[in-house]
Amino acid sequence: MDKFTIEGGRPLNGFATVSGSKNAALPIMAAVLASDGPLVLSDVPDLVDVHSLLNLLETLGVDSKQHGDGQLRLVVQDTRPHVADYDLVRRMRASICVLGPLLARRGRACVSLPGGCNIGHRPVDLHLKGLEALGAEIRVEGGYVIARAKRLRGASVFLGGPCGSTVTGTCNVMTAATLAEGRTVIEAAACEPEVVDLGECLNAMGAQISGLGTPAIEIEGVQRLASAHHRVIPDRIEAATLMIAAAITGGHVEIGPVRPDHLIAVCEVLQRIGVRIERSNCEHGLATLVATAPQVLAPTTVTALPYPGVPTDVQAQLMALLCTADGISVVTDKVFPDRFLHAAELVRLGARIVREGPTAVIHGTPRLSGANVMASDLRASAALVLAGLAAKGPTTIRRIYHLDRGYQRLDEKLNRLGGQVIRSEDRPGPTPPHFSTDTSSQPHQFATDD
Ligand code: EPZ
Repeated sequence: MDKFTIEGGRPLNGFATVSGSKNAALPIMAAVLASDGPLVLSDVPDLVDVHSLLNLLETLGVDSKQHGDGQLRLVVQDTRPHVADYDLVRRMRASICVLGPLLARRGRACVSLPGGCNIGHRPVDLHLKGLEALGAEIRVEGGYVIARAKRLRGASVFLGGPCGSTVTGTCNVMTAATLAEGRTVIEAAACEPEVVDLGECLNAMGAQISGLGTPAIEIEGVQRLASAHHRVIPDRIEAATLMIAAAITGGHVEIGPVRPDHLIAVCEVLQRIGVRIERSNCEHGLATLVATAPQVLAPTTVTALPYPGVPTDVQAQLMALLCTADGISVVTDKVFPDRFLHAAELVRLGARIVREGPTAVIHGTPRLSGANVMASDLRASAALVLAGLAAKGPTTIRRIYHLDRGYQRLDEKLNRLGGQVIRSEDRPGPTPPHFSTDTSSQPHQFATDD
């Protein structure tokens, strides 16, 4: 297992490339299970989670060929397997995305429930409710979701839950409905760009989906899905993380390619904090953005909400930024109200944070100081890296495998901008004296957190 040692206090400057979106790529890859022809994808990020899903797809009869430039060709060779095993699913919650396509194309699916998670309560009841509405018989037995349906039937499906809609639940039900008999309307569908990207890929495969990006998605079922070529959208969460890296280090960073329309809420918050953001357009709706830090960061109030609100996946990184603002900020997460494990680690770096239910109150401090900290999930890791970049003195971040699940070589990208992030193997050993309270370096390899 690797760790990062960061020597903070260096302003980041230059250009950083934004990779393809993890959360778009995963359900799109799973959708190949519903198709008859090859699916060729571009801009697939090179991430641990992508490799985990490829392993799972292989056990489900999918043949894959990867090229170094983000091209991935997937084709179903064997339509008989229908079991997504616990040992593979437990590594990554997004594995649940195979449920809808398997059921729709193969008439049966047996998918392990993903289990515990570090960012809060994450049931899959809405996924199951949606597939049941399409006529599937579903039971949960021995930790597996066991689903059957000769042919799914179009229906009206409501996917609203206590914390909004469900992103991967919408992906599952939408993909399944493409092969159902008749028309499906998903009400309270997730509007996230990753759902839209999946829908556009399914349409390229022959599906008939309209209303993408709105809470009412309509799907006219078709007999089969065929081959397609699809380019995955840029990762809006990585883009936001890189802009925050510029802001927290007092730097000036250009990022691209991005879809600026996917980043409106994040840019609005950054501008309130004082970050200057300039945009230059490229082709096909893509652009580059330049983020320039102000002299002093202003405090603000941020609430993470479903799209088009500020994403919960940027909440931790914004909190790290606000730890260094000049005054009191308030951060609330309405999507995952318990997603605050990073707060305690930020406190180890000198941040002043008080949590009250789904809200954290942050008293900004002019300078964080380096310490030994522990990554608990993907975005918490990113927040700690950002705080480490801003801190005075060295910061060591353990369990960095969380970060590798969702960021393509973030350490290399930050180093090209002038950061000093050193990756090394985390061997058990004595804790340096000034990091005296850290005792939790036990391996924790398979926690699911995405
Ligand atoms: C997706 O997870 C993302 N993962 C998450 O990204 C992201 O944080 C999340 O959406 C919210 O935007 C992928 O796309 C692979 P949800 P998902 O179902 O689909 C509740 C990252 O860091 N809910 O939209 O699993 C749930 O508890 C990851 O990249 C139910 O009540 O999230 C939560 O409060 C982490 N019942 C809310 O809905 C359900 O059946 C939103 O969850 C499903 C969800």
